[in-house]
Amino acid sequence: MKKKIAVILGDGIGPEVTEQSIKVLNIIAKQFKHEFSYEHALMGAIAIDKTGKPLPEETIKICLASDAILFGAIGDPKYDNDPTAKVRPEQGLLKLRKELQLFANIRPVKTYETLHHLSPLKPRILENVDFIIFRELTGGIYFGEPRGIRTREDGEREGYNTYIYRESEIERIAKLAFELAAKRGGRLTSVDKANVLEVTQLWREVVTNVAGNFPEVDLDHLYVDNAAMQLVRAPKQFDVLVTGNIFGDILSDTAAMLTGSIGMLPSASLNANSAGLYEPVHGSAPDIAGQDCANPLATILSVAMLLRYSLDAPDAAIAVEAAVSAVLDQGCRTADIAAKGDVVIGTEAMGTAVLNALEGPQGNQL
Ligand code: IPM
Ligand code: MG
Repeated sequence: MKKKIAVILGDGIGPEVTEQSIKVLNIIAKQFKHEFSYEHALMGAIAIDKTGKPLPEETIKICLASDAILFGAIGDPKYDNDPTAKVRPEQGLLKLRKELQLFANIRPVKTYETLHHLSPLKPRILENVDFIIFRELTGGIYFGEPRGIRTREDGEREGYNTYIYRESEIERIAKLAFELAAKRGGRLTSVDKANVLEVTQLWREVVTNVAGNFPEVDLDHLYVDNAAMQLVRAPKQFDVLVTGNIFGDILSDTAAMLTGSIGMLPSASLNANSAGLYEPVHGSAPDIAGQDCANPLATILSVAMLLRYSLDAPDAAIAVEAAVSAVLDQGCRTADIAAKGDVVIGTEAMGTAVLNALEGPQGNQL
């Protein structure tokens, strides 16, 4: 098949890790006889530097004309410490999610036995952990209006945001989460704060109603504080978690610690119609950018998701995931997943190791 992939390298370590995942896509194309073409687009701090905008119109156009979008990372410290900055790199990503209506963010959390010792949690808690966080991505407090910082009548300033969900927004993410749970272990956990927030009381009500169409899925509800605790106490209990934008943001970073490093977690952001966006969960890590030491496995695993969800190439996705497991079994370690005494390799060497694993000992095995 012929497919167009939009590539947004972004900021910090984005370019160097994404370079590795493009190498992986190229070899997959060769092995599975596909033709992938890439069109580069700007977003984030680099886009602000070059065009003044975190998400230029041109980028939206390129993404809309593509079959899938591969994205690196966003963020630059020069904006973090400037409270007066009106334009911020992150606005680019949030706007792109909104423009393309990428409301369903899938973040799989899977532990690798070879990395158990890196997690601050005990190995017995990590065995066979394999679940998916389904995060609503285009609503909630991230986008709710009104929002801002204003001056009160008494002269004091206050910041405010609005946590709002429409029934239809809850319903569409709930449906997808149920569908996925039905295909997996048949268990769905909805996370809310319905003991305090009305918006999540509605969330719980709508999710419960959708459950009526999925009798094969067992649904339970957890308050987000309890969910955070359960994620580190007994993560094996989870199959699919569905939650709103901000809770999903926080819980997915917590869950990253189960794998030992946030450098291992891929993600997909989807809707029913447009191209999906695939990105590692880790950020731009400016402190290590340009040093060839970032872990490219999260973006390579994101490529596996891209192959599975946007290009309908499950065999190729499985091949990429198997190659990642193989390099971990071989002991390949970037700094973030290395323990004392391990030989540490760089970003590029890790990418090459995955390529070699894909090609097999005699080359081009598939
Ligand atoms: C994520 C990130 C983003 C978010 C930031 C960069 C805007 O933390 O994808 O988890 O909060 O959604
Ligand atoms: Mg986050």
